[in-house]
Amino acid sequence: MIAKSGLSLVDLDDEGVDPAFRGDVLAGLSQAQKAIPARWFYDDAGSLLFEQITQLPEYYPTRAETEILTQRSEDFARLIGSGRAVVEFGSGSSVKTPLLLSAIDPAAYVPLDISGDFLRASASALAERFPGLPVYPVEADFMRRVELPTEVAGLPKLGFFPGSTIGNMVARTSVDLLREMRATLGEGSKLLIGMDLIKDPAVLIAAYDDAKGVTAEFNLNLVRRINRELEGDIPLDALRHETRWNDDYARIEMHLVAKCDMTFAVAGKEFALRAGESIHTENSHKFDRRMSNTLLLAGGWTPRERWLDSGERFSLILAEATVPRSAP
Ligand code: AVI
Repeated sequence: MIAKSGLSLVDLDDEGVDPAFRGDVLAGLSQAQKAIPARWFYDDAGSLLFEQITQLPEYYPTRAETEILTQRSEDFARLIGSGRAVVEFGSGSSVKTPLLLSAIDPAAYVPLDISGDFLRASASALAERFPGLPVYPVEADFMRRVELPTEVAGLPKLGFFPGSTIGNMVARTSVDLLREMRATLGEGSKLLIGMDLIKDPAVLIAAYDDAKGVTAEFNLNLVRRINRELEGDIPLDALRHETRWNDDYARIEMHLVAKCDMTFAVAGKEFALRAGESIHTENSHKFDRRMSNTLLLAGGWTPRERWLDSGERFSLILAEATVPRSAP
């Protein structure tokens, strides 16, 4: 059952554009190293391309995390228990969320996503699969504290943030997000979070530069979105997808590199790129055990349990929002 009380929290301007998108793009293109936050990849076309990426042979994270969710259901039932409202940050893919919901017998499911159409589609697929489970989709930017539907106010919460999406943020933003999640979910809640592991850069590069070119399409779709929604004329054919491993920051970077000198306009403002310069479009940070523990603690979450897939490529961590200790 999809409850009608789902909230819509994203405000669009008169042209139907999210002003935050315009602001991020104009600010990002004005920097010396042009950069656009990765969260803007996910319009409807971008969300569908990302679903295709998750099926690619080179892109191991989805399969690895699904393996953990499949094999550890008894652990989840024991450590999370039944009767919680599961709040998923980013609406659920058709595979992972049902695995979790089947394992823990929740009282409600609240998917949060900025992409409304995709949110509604995945919420109704979920509701069909779990007929007795109340589903309250909320269209929202989960980077800020979200007001949850009143129907789940009295329930204990489990935050679910799979896929290593946390890795798409720089450290300061991911700590901010973890704190906002804690504020959304409340004291005593739990968080089940996926974090991709540091590994051979060749394996990582292949995962973000697949042979079929789906990831390249995903990257270029951001430019299509800018051109469509922000009246841009960025020449798509003059940009190429590039994937880099940044060892200092333990992250994969995606760039759109200019094949030639170019000028272009977005929302009435002029920009230029020299041949070889790039627009930095995504970071995908990778973690080891200590890095993920430190990040969670900085965000107000105490790690309680950590599971790896059989290939030791990906981690899923259960953490708890506990009362902060005053010392040391
Ligand atoms: C959503 N996010 C965790 C993906 C990742 O692996 O960083 C996005 C992605 N970008 C390219 N491929 C997948």
